[in-house]
Formats: sequence, structure tokens, C-alpha cells
Amino acid sequence: MARGRMIAGNWKMNGLQAQRDEARAVAAFVGDNVSANAAVEVVICPPFTLLSDVARDVAGTPVHVGAQDCHIADTGAHTGDVCASMLADAGASHVIIAHSERRALGETDVLAAQKVRAAAQYDVTPIICVGETEAQRDAGEAEAVVAAQIRGSLPDVSAVGHAIAARACLAYEPVWAIGTGRTPSVDDIAAMHAASRTVLAEVWGAERAESMRILYGGSVKPGNARAILDVDGVDGALVGGASLTAESFTQIIQSAI
Ligand code: PGA
Repeated sequence: MARGRMIAGNWKMNGLQAQRDEARAVAAFVGDNVSANAAVEVVICPPFTLLSDVARDVAGTPVHVGAQDCHIADTGAHTGDVCASMLADAGASHVIIAHSERRALGETDVLAAQKVRAAAQYDVTPIICVGETEAQRDAGEAEAVVAAQIRGSLPDVSAVGHAIAARACLAYEPVWAIGTGRTPSVDDIAAMHAASRTVLAEVWGAERAESMRILYGGSVKPGNARAILDVDGVDGALVGGASLTAESFTQIIQSAI
């Protein structure tokens, strides 16, 4: 079955008020070039401080806004944290979960699964990140590591509901490719996406696995986006550095149209 593409931009800990100009320019480009029901979904994930501003900036365009993390609880005494209902309230429809930069700070698969469940409760679509380190790849463990992350980070479908399960995305992001300018070969990307889809089928069933988008992330740039998006089983990209300017991000979106 045909899966639409998703191009998601992760601003990470970047963006003061002036950065909103980039979001507006992306929204204008998408408004002009991607029809609302086109097979390319564009998501911008600013830091929490800009979520509601950017949500207002892109309102009325096909661009979606996502957060970069959420807490597992609904509300309560969690100083410094932000929960899924707050994300939805701020205008976020998506949330990145268990990015490797958070996993490096101790975020576990168990926590990731709880966050997926929390996001689903408020109808926020999770983009669940997995990926091996360079040492794990060198040791031949990449597929096993990613398989374990998928098994651990996805709660039962019954816990997230079928509507969210149908929209959830996986992002395969080899840790060693993030922010380094290095990318795996297209063959390696194809192999990891195929292996990931096999595990998804085990966990959420063959039908969900077939319809679920698996994004690639790690040094996606205007110059390599088309080649990566052409890889069998790649349904989009999670873009870090190159999402910070409308110029480079729109070129990547253009590659997906
Ligand atoms: P990068 O980051 O595009 O800057 O490598 C990707 C990511 O961390 O999602």
C-alpha cells in the first residue's frame, strides 16, 4: 500500500523569536507547492518556547507543528517538564520521542513506550526514534540493537489506539550519522528499513507495519535528500541542521514532492 511521505524538521535547542521567519517561509512554500491532501506531510518541531508561536505562524497552511519530547504523566509535580496535553494545547500535532540525544541522557525504551502512550492519549502523533551507535554498527549489531529498541519502545496497539497507531512513524537515525555529515550507504539504509519493518510487523502486525512510515534521519541535506528518499522503504526524513533555514529545508521538501 502506498505510504505518504513525511519531512520533519527538528530544530533541537535552536531558535529565538527571529527563527519564526524560517517557519513562515517554509509554510508559504508548502502552501504554494504542496496541496493539503498531497502525499507529503511537513512537520516543524521547534523548541517548547516557540511551539505556540510557530503553531500560530503556520496555521491555515498544510504544515504541522511537533514537539521534541513529552513527559509520561498527564499533569502534576514535574518541575521543568511538559506533558502531552500541554503540547496539544500549544498546537502540536506530533512529538518526537526517544531521540538519540535524549537516549544518550538515559532515556530508556520503557520510558519511550510510556511517552508514546501519553502522546496517544491526547491524539499527538509520535515519531519514535531508534538507531545504533558507531561501535554497535562496527560490531555487526546494528539490526539487533534497532530491533530491540523497536520492541521496547512501542507499547501494545491497544494502549495507543488504532487511530494513533495508524499515524505513528518510526525514525531510523544512526547515531553516528547525526550532525556529522556522514550517512550510511543506500544499501545499508534499505537493509535497516527492511529489517525495521519486519520487527514492526511482529510488534504491531503486518498490516500496520506495511502502512507505517519509516523516516531516515542523520545528515539529510539538500544534496543527498533525493537519493535517500528514493531508497526502498524510506518514507521520509527527520532533518536536524538542514531544517533550520527555510532555504535548505524547502529544498529537501522539494525532493520529496
Ligand atoms: P542532523 O540531525 O540532520 O543534523 O544530522 C538529525 C536528527 O538528529 O534528527
